[in-house]
Amino acid sequence: MNRQISLAVVLVAALALYSCQTSHRLKPANAERVLAQMTQEEKIRLVVGAGNDKFVGYGSTKLLVPGAAGTTAPIERLGVPPVVLSDGPAGIRIDTVREGDTKRYYHTGFPIGTALASTWNTSLLETVGLTIGKEAHAYGIDLLFAPGMNLHRDPLGGRNFEYYSEDPLLSGKMGAAFVRGVQKNGVGACPKHFAVNNQETNRKDVDNRVGQRPLHELYLRSFEIAVRESDPWAVMSAYNAINGEQCMESRWLLTDVLRRQWHFNGIVVSDWAAPGWRSSAKEITAGNDLLAPGSNEQREELTKALASHELKAADLDTCALRMLRFVSRTTRARGYQPTNTVDLKADAAVSRQAADEALVLLENHGALPLKDGANKIGLFGISSYNFISVGTGSGNVKSRHTVNLLEGLRHAGFAVSQSPSDYYTSIVRDSVSRRSYDELGYAAIPEPGISKALIDRSAKDDDVAIVTIGRSSGEGADRNLYTDFLLQPKELKLITDVASAFHQKGKKVIVILNVPGVVETVSWRDKVDALLCAWLPGQEGGDAVADVLRGNLSPSGHLTMTWPRKYEDCNTHDNFPYDYHGPKAIGNYPKIPRKPAIKNVHYVDYEEGIYVGYRYFDTYDKPVAYPFGYGLSYTHFTFSQPAVKKAAAGYQVSVTVTNDGKMAGKEVVQLYVPLKGLIHQLVAFGKTRLLNPGESERLTLTFTPRELSYWDENMNGWMLDETARKLEIASNSRDIRLQVSIP
Ligand code: BGC
Repeated sequence: MNRQISLAVVLVAALALYSCQTSHRLKPANAERVLAQMTQEEKIRLVVGAGNDKFVGYGSTKLLVPGAAGTTAPIERLGVPPVVLSDGPAGIRIDTVREGDTKRYYHTGFPIGTALASTWNTSLLETVGLTIGKEAHAYGIDLLFAPGMNLHRDPLGGRNFEYYSEDPLLSGKMGAAFVRGVQKNGVGACPKHFAVNNQETNRKDVDNRVGQRPLHELYLRSFEIAVRESDPWAVMSAYNAINGEQCMESRWLLTDVLRRQWHFNGIVVSDWAAPGWRSSAKEITAGNDLLAPGSNEQREELTKALASHELKAADLDTCALRMLRFVSRTTRARGYQPTNTVDLKADAAVSRQAADEALVLLENHGALPLKDGANKIGLFGISSYNFISVGTGSGNVKSRHTVNLLEGLRHAGFAVSQSPSDYYTSIVRDSVSRRSYDELGYAAIPEPGISKALIDRSAKDDDVAIVTIGRSSGEGADRNLYTDFLLQPKELKLITDVASAFHQKGKKVIVILNVPGVVETVSWRDKVDALLCAWLPGQEGGDAVADVLRGNLSPSGHLTMTWPRKYEDCNTHDNFPYDYHGPKAIGNYPKIPRKPAIKNVHYVDYEEGIYVGYRYFDTYDKPVAYPFGYGLSYTHFTFSQPAVKKAAAGYQVSVTVTNDGKMAGKEVVQLYVPLKGLIHQLVAFGKTRLLNPGESERLTLTFTPRELSYWDENMNGWMLDETARKLEIASNSRDIRLQVSIP
């Protein structure tokens, strides 16, 4: 008996010893146990990314999914796989071609962020997110670096195209919808760049000096809404500093605000920083969980910092634990193998639908939609033939094909006259054949000019003229006032010549703006009969524009930023590098010596405070080219029967929208409230379904007391503005249709 007992004791002891030694492999919900088994070296490996082949300033890896931005490092013995990180937000950014592989990894190009927001349609944004997330999942991407959530502080921001709007509520709601869509696929989304990342010039070194009220009400608010309403898996910390502190090193920003105040649950990924740009110890202490792209130098730095107690082991543990939880959420951690199969046709239809709703009709003097008799088109402007679907840089997407306007018009049954078409097509062919492959995308081809003879012949033969003005924009540089915002002499001449030749024959001229953001229009718009802003509308752009020209659908996009009459009217103009000629802030660009500090390069004073975009133009009643929220339609809508009532979390405003025009269409309703110091701010918005003539829809918009609050700098907190009771139901920020008061 005794022998039996001692045998059992030995067996139990052996089993206990065995189970202690057996590693727990990562599963959802066992991250703490896995962490307990990790060595210091493994924890460091997990919080520092697996690196780029070379440091190029944006992500590019050859591991797992070639052309993706990067991967995390695996810890095989604990079942922690590497996970794949890819850029967005206009689709995934990966290589279509892989070495030694005949398969093509095609993916879909969607409209840029600004265009998506111009739809003012959150459910459409969710569908776009869902579709991009589906492609990401199919190709084995675990985290998508999108949406871009910074504000259009100034119209010339180089990456405004990736961002949604000058307004934080619109940006936040659009971002939240996009994140919800992406994450339905088991792929994480990552709003970026947190925070106040509003210019590209010297982006890694610039200090943005901003007051507490604009910081909280504007620049943090878009992120706050997205975090609270969509629970993203990650947030990316920005390159720049805020009020003297680097975002990536700011514990206040990444821990106190993001996690403690907003209850953010995911990981913070640093933007792509080269070794030595930041203190790795400070980054971990601040709450960055993944230092991207990651390098050996950073690993060594962290090892030394732990030894010298500059970095606390507990802080490293916190980040490593969050990384384990993040990795365990991915389907890859559960053994998923990428299918590498996507339904390009179905996804193109979603891209097209988004482009359809993104187009903003700015002017229409009886020219659109084109009547049945207007079938022969004189198509001018190089970008008609080289339609620009997306910007350059990490936000670029290599879609298989972009439908240009020539193709779009032909698909819609128009005839395009041969001579201008031959002329432009050969220039496009030459320019494309001369350029070498650029993984970050291509700039617009400059307008070449065209002879008067060709224009005159077209005016004689064709029914109508279309002129496209094209611009691109990209990471690493802001847009330039003189070479980008203003139309160039050849472009102005083209518009003038075409308008005079066609008008002499009593024929109409339509201009299409194929642009990433605002351009000057006031000096030339009176020369043309219609003006349609197509943005950079994704791979289906030409078809979407042709649909609107033909009248197959009524435009329903509205501007998400104010268009000034001239750049100098913007109150940010003295505090923005609109004419900077120094190095581009991408790749290993030379550091610009900090002494002496250069205004708008090393530091920017946000002197305008809360008066950004319409908050400035409307409050100070300044004339604009087109107000925030503006967009024409082919039909007409009336708003009626407004009602407001208290709801569980705030207020509900209902309004009936009736299509009393002659064509089916959708309408956007915007709700504004005057707030301390501001004539008004957007507090809610909605979009109707497609309403046939005579049809109505009752829209209900909701908002919370936070939208009626301002940031009180003395109290250092939100204060309800008791006087904010008058609600404006509007079609744009300067077209208030109805008013109701909060009871
Ligand atoms: C960009 C990020 C991007 C990252 C990875 C950086 O240069 O600022 O937006 O996600 O590169 O490509």
